[in-house]
Amino acid sequence: MKIGFIGAGKMALALARGMVGAQVVAPQEIIASARSAASQARFLAAFSSFPAHPAWTTSNTEVIARAETIVLGLKPQMLPEEAPRLAEAINAAGPRLIISIAAGTSLDSLRKWLGPNARVVRSMPNTPVLVGQGATAYVGAPEATETDLELAGRYLGAGGKAWRVEREEWMNAITALSGSGPAYVFYFAEALAEAGVQQGLPRPFALELAVQTLLGAAAMMQPGPPGSAPALPPLELANQVKSPNGTTVAGCTVLEEQGFFRLIQSAVAAARRRADELGRPA
Ligand SMILES: NC(=O)c1ccc[n+]([C@@H]2O[C@H](COP(=O)([O-])OP(=O)(O)OC[C@H]3O[C@@H](n4cnc5c(N)ncnc54)[C@H](OP(=O)(O)O)[C@@H]3O)[C@@H](O)[C@H]2O)c1
Repeated sequence: MKIGFIGAGKMALALARGMVGAQVVAPQEIIASARSAASQARFLAAFSSFPAHPAWTTSNTEVIARAETIVLGLKPQMLPEEAPRLAEAINAAGPRLIISIAAGTSLDSLRKWLGPNARVVRSMPNTPVLVGQGATAYVGAPEATETDLELAGRYLGAGGKAWRVEREEWMNAITALSGSGPAYVFYFAEALAEAGVQQGLPRPFALELAVQTLLGAAAMMQPGPPGSAPALPPLELANQVKSPNGTTVAGCTVLEEQGFFRLIQSAVAAARRRADELGRPA
């Protein structure tokens, strides 16, 4: 097996599906583990449109024994308890590239828990990898080779964009911005739709308008094909919509006066504090 997933929840599933969608791995080159039948059913259902499906086991040891690269998709809180068993399996199986996606969990902790056979890469993906639009950052431990980091980049970049960073101290800020970021955008979409309902629109139509507006605005912020002009910065794009004395200025003025920027900064700061806490020993 090329790649194994230990903990086959929402994020592991999104990554695995993104990798298969981008044809970086085939379904039959994947093995995944979790404890419950519900996790198994959800994970395997995501590959039902393919002729082959991933292997499944309830044994994390089996995943480590059979896969060359392991994605650690457990919740950060579960890692200290599970780590001795994982370390034992890695010790028995031989050197392994381990890609952790656990929020807040440092390379030092992972290296200490998993032992000398683990060449660890710490990463922070986000759920849009499921639809090929993920934003993922990753950083390697000293034992991770260039080849490991290239491979990690290929796997993590399969479902979108992946940035290799050198500074691990950025990872919790990245977690708070792009790891948690899709949820902020979903909140914004809901809030925009709800505001439309308050102005008399039917809810389903308001939601469709809000979602399409987000998609269109996001597309305008994307750089075009190589050689084309770079996308304008977000506030310049906003300025283009704000005709003097018009409706958009009226709306944006309220956003500015009522602390929209401060609100987002507070949300990201709170997520960052939580990532810091998750990384501290209990
Ligand atoms: N969700 C996000 O947007 C996001 C973004 C970036 C990073 N992350 C990171 O991704 C990781 C997983 O988060 P998630 O949102 O995907 O959580 P989740 O959906 O709850 O997934 C956790 C998975 O671990 C399994 N599990 C629990 N204990 C296990 C054990 N002892 N052995 C094997 N599997 C076990 C669970 O299934 P069973 O209960 O059936 O065992 C479940 O499949 C976290 O470390 C999180 O920080 C998440």
